[in-house]
Amino acid sequence: MTTKTFSIHRDRLVALRRSEAQRYLDSHPRSVALAGEDARHFLFGVPLHWMRDWPSPAALHVERAEGNRLWCADGHEYLDFCLGDTGAMFGHSPAPVARAIAAQASRGLTAMLPSTLSAEVGRLLSHCFGLPRWQLTLSASDANRFVLRWARAVTGRPKVLVFDGCYHGTVDDTLVDRGDDGRTRTRTSLLGQVHDLALGTVVVPFNDADAVRAALARGDVACVLTEPTLTNCGLVPARPGFLEAVQRACAEHGSLLVLDETHTLSSGWGGQGRLQGLRPDFIVVGKAVAGGLPCAVYGFSEPVNERMQAAKRAAPDGHSGIGTTLSANLLALAALHANLSEVMTPAAYDGMLATAALLERRLRETIAAAGAPWTVTRLGVRMELQFRADTPADARAARAAMDAPLEAALHLYLLNRALLVTPFHNMLLVAPQTTPADVEQLVRALAAFVAEVRA
Ligand SMILES: Cc1ncc(COP(=O)(O)O)c(C=O)c1O
Repeated sequence: MTTKTFSIHRDRLVALRRSEAQRYLDSHPRSVALAGEDARHFLFGVPLHWMRDWPSPAALHVERAEGNRLWCADGHEYLDFCLGDTGAMFGHSPAPVARAIAAQASRGLTAMLPSTLSAEVGRLLSHCFGLPRWQLTLSASDANRFVLRWARAVTGRPKVLVFDGCYHGTVDDTLVDRGDDGRTRTRTSLLGQVHDLALGTVVVPFNDADAVRAALARGDVACVLTEPTLTNCGLVPARPGFLEAVQRACAEHGSLLVLDETHTLSSGWGGQGRLQGLRPDFIVVGKAVAGGLPCAVYGFSEPVNERMQAAKRAAPDGHSGIGTTLSANLLALAALHANLSEVMTPAAYDGMLATAALLERRLRETIAAAGAPWTVTRLGVRMELQFRADTPADARAARAAMDAPLEAALHLYLLNRALLVTPFHNMLLVAPQTTPADVEQLVRALAAFVAEVRA
């Protein structure tokens, strides 16, 4: 038997992207008109400039979103596997969160004071994530920024360690790359960064425990900040034992371990670190933690709590550089309370994980049937179609498998067939409302796309 080798017909891919762009323009006149109006007011014609990074020729304008469905200005209904790239992981506008927000909206939005719900929110956070002490912020970027400041304050050490390919939000210290010579470099894409970030940050490859140990042995690293699985350079899982080795190295060398669970919250209830039995000094959770309302949290252990109190008491009066006026506002506390108690529950995860397992299986069957040398890497309710035969072990391998023209064409093709996936590295999320029929619709469209572009 001869097996036909799989490859992409590049000319056909270019032609398909062009015809899909035209199809989008023809079928979305209202979004196109709104984009024209936006262009008069906004930088790059969008309220946040990244919104232009989607492959569609004009931004899709949202009319409303509910559960795992989204409706655009032209009245088309989409199955949403992007889910606000995690912010809406538990579905758009979960009913308990929407009710809590509506009830709180007429009772005060922000007061620079705790609310009658705050003690219960603290209890729910500890119950879910297993750490005793908490602080709230408006975004995961802020939470990471503040945790790095605390870590440096309590250890008195200047450096932080992150992994190549990491993303922890707009936190300058983490926006670094590892050069071919192994050195830490300020990320070249950063705008307006005039400082040499390598002075305060060391970058090593993920899954390289020896490199972590060598960096920590110098004694100047306040903390290691990592996602338990890298999710922002493509999904890169930790090898068995790697995170435990990092934890041991931290303990040995007096560095703190910070787990950013903002995306790895997809693993299951309590996040990946808890499921894996890790004992981080800090964790950070954002995006979906309050059901999609802007809010993030960071938690820490009792010994770290004591060191934070001592550091604050020892500092002169004045700005700490930690916190923002609207952080922990009344509305955020109400949304957090509703999400933690009624939405982000173990039962919700059970359903989502079952659907995600089905989606992974059906995607694998589809690419196997096409003979495509691709894989699916899954982290709980999140997964990625990766254009390589096996799961990558570090960011370099994940980057090498990226195929921007193929990704963009696939994204637009799916969008034109009422399927919304993340515009970055084929990421898919399953919501509590995602059904097996939704899975089949996606899988059928993927199979049709592959048939169109294969050589
Ligand atoms: C792992 C991780 N942490 C933190 C952030 C920052 O979240 P936000 O943009 O909501 O501040 C992101 C954003 O994508 C992220 O992927």
